[in-house]
Amino acid sequence: MKIAIDGPAGAGKSTIALLVAKRLGLRYLDTGAMYRAVTLQALRTDTACDNGRTLVDMLTKTDLVIEFELETGRNLVYINGENVTEAIRKPEVTGNVSLVSSHAELRELIVAMQQEIARPGRIVMDGRDIGTVVMPDAQWKFFLWATVEERALRRQKQLAEAGFKVDLAELEEQIRQRDHFDSHREVSPLRKAEDAIEVDTTNLTIPEVVDSLLRWIRGGSPDV
Ligand code: CDP
Repeated sequence: MKIAIDGPAGAGKSTIALLVAKRLGLRYLDTGAMYRAVTLQALRTDTACDNGRTLVDMLTKTDLVIEFELETGRNLVYINGENVTEAIRKPEVTGNVSLVSSHAELRELIVAMQQEIARPGRIVMDGRDIGTVVMPDAQWKFFLWATVEERALRRQKQLAEAGFKVDLAELEEQIRQRDHFDSHREVSPLRKAEDAIEVDTTNLTIPEVVDSLLRWIRGGSPDV
């Protein structure tokens, strides 16, 4: 069983993907966390974010490990042995990650790592290109989205919980820019796979979205 969940920033992918994985007893991989870890390491080592080759060189010298926390199913991210699970969510990482993830050479390497993790199956993966590039063979593909306003509100709440206070208008602008960049890049842009099920989460709670996906997977009605 392979389940792909794609969509724009703040659509709720990681929360939903983790919950669906737990309900079905599957593993969960947050592919965005891998691009975020590369970005954090680039910022820390003064590696240019606009050069794919140097980013690949940096990554080959970096020990990037994703662990599955047994109790919660959460992904723990380590760079050279240091736990950076929280650090990769910092606003300066978010501000640079779209540029970093736009390079073909780097994506090739990271997608290969993701496909290796996906190989044994029994996994839910979320990202931008999972249904189209990483797991085109997934049995279930979902594309989650919500209005920019709603996504900015959700992101503001999430950041506030992590101790960051960010202006709503600023967040809306950042999300618009990231959506635009992610959707218009040449390599594996953010795009709904033709066979993906689209779910508008704007007016849905997290449990409602999870139930909707589980209903599809179990063959029931898609209506929430
Ligand atoms: O959680 P959020 O929506 O903020 O983003 P994320 O899933 O952590 O991904 C961060 C960034 O990584 C995205 O804006 C994309 O630029 C990039 N990404 C990607 O290119 N391909 C993926 N499969 C996942 C993330």
